[in-house]
Amino acid sequence: MGSSSLTAMAPTPALITRPRIGIVGAGNIASLNVAGYLEDPRCDVVAVCDPKEGRAAEAARAWGVDRSYTDLADLLADPEVDAVEILTPTFLHHDHVLAAVEAGKHVSCQKPLANTVTEARAMAAAADEAGVVLRVSECFRHYPPLELAKQLLAEGAIGRPTQIRLRTVVGQTDSEFQNGLEIDGYLWRMTETSPGGHLFDDMIHKYAVALWMFDQDIVSVQAAVRRRDHYFEPCAAIFAYEDPSILGTMDVSYAPAMWLRSDYYGADEFFEIQGDEGFLWVTRCTGQMLDLPAVVLYEGRQGKQTTTSFPHIDADWGAGFRRASSNFIDTLVDGVPPEMSATEAIKALQLCFAVYEAGNTRQAIDPRQITHSVVPDGWPQ
Ligand SMILES: NC(=O)c1ccc[n+]([C@@H]2O[C@H](COP(=O)([O-])OP(=O)(O)OC[C@H]3O[C@@H](n4cnc5c(N)ncnc54)[C@H](O)[C@@H]3O)[C@@H](O)[C@H]2O)c1
Repeated sequence: MGSSSLTAMAPTPALITRPRIGIVGAGNIASLNVAGYLEDPRCDVVAVCDPKEGRAAEAARAWGVDRSYTDLADLLADPEVDAVEILTPTFLHHDHVLAAVEAGKHVSCQKPLANTVTEARAMAAAADEAGVVLRVSECFRHYPPLELAKQLLAEGAIGRPTQIRLRTVVGQTDSEFQNGLEIDGYLWRMTETSPGGHLFDDMIHKYAVALWMFDQDIVSVQAAVRRRDHYFEPCAAIFAYEDPSILGTMDVSYAPAMWLRSDYYGADEFFEIQGDEGFLWVTRCTGQMLDLPAVVLYEGRQGKQTTTSFPHIDADWGAGFRRASSNFIDTLVDGVPPEMSATEAIKALQLCFAVYEAGNTRQAIDPRQITHSVVPDGWPQ
């Protein structure tokens, strides 16, 4: 299925029998990530750090963790921490990952890996040199319906892949999760501390899926990008893959008057993967907008057309977080290559900036040429 330049080998990790995990950042998304470590019998969460008054201590109480710190240097100096999960604002990932690597800790970092490709490459190089793992925790690649779709595709259920469509809608929800979010967790996303808005912060997940589903590079991007309230960026984009017979489209809409069912953010996704013998649909992800089975397979062969639904698969968006955390433990304990290495995270960043560059210039852009970052027109700098 095309050349597989995405499956770069991760550095060989030092195998650890029972990793002791330190959590760096106890903000809005921390509980979803930490749940996977807390329930994994192969590891222990031993420390948490957050400089915000009372936040680390409160998280430590909630998670049953012994030690809390307000200074990252203190957590990194703790000899009983083998590995860290970096859950800090994205613009701090570079400094925090480098500090952790220098302290000899294995690192799992939230998406996006960094604000620029330059920074991300420096982080990957530092981890390689120190001989520690650096991976990105990408919950969409561990979302069970998307994992099933990728597996069915690999088994040939829809024949040779020809297209992928990645649909995202952002609307409203009144979920307990959304209502419980701290406002300070939004602010750094909407200023010059970020190189862009929603197409950077959230769509990085969809870029990660677009690359992973076919295990090959995207070599050309065209896009129209708009700007709406806050940081939302409606967008229509076209991707051309290495294999010229495969195309992708990505559309992102902002619908502030539309309410949708969700246990999490007020957003949802719909993925359509087409092959020359069928379709695969993943009908939800962050939310539960549609009353449809989470995965539907259409096989259309001469003399036999069948539609198969997979209604019982775990379609909770939170499952992707838990499984992503478990995947880090797979790497540390069993040496399994991480689902998203730093190399792949850099490709996702390049794709993101290629969308902005294509929107700014109205030209087709090769993501592989992006070496730093691209800010969308009108974004505060
Ligand atoms: N996988 C997903 O779907 C998903 C969803 C939301 C956020 N994220 C990512 O997770 C990261 C955090 O996002 P968030 O929404 O929780 O943000 P947030 O601002 O709510 O949380 C960040 C936390 O980091 C803390 N922090 C700042 N400096 C620190 C330091 N030196 N040491 C330790 N802690 C420090 C802050 O005080 C805050 O509590 C971001 O990179 C974001 O992109 C991923």
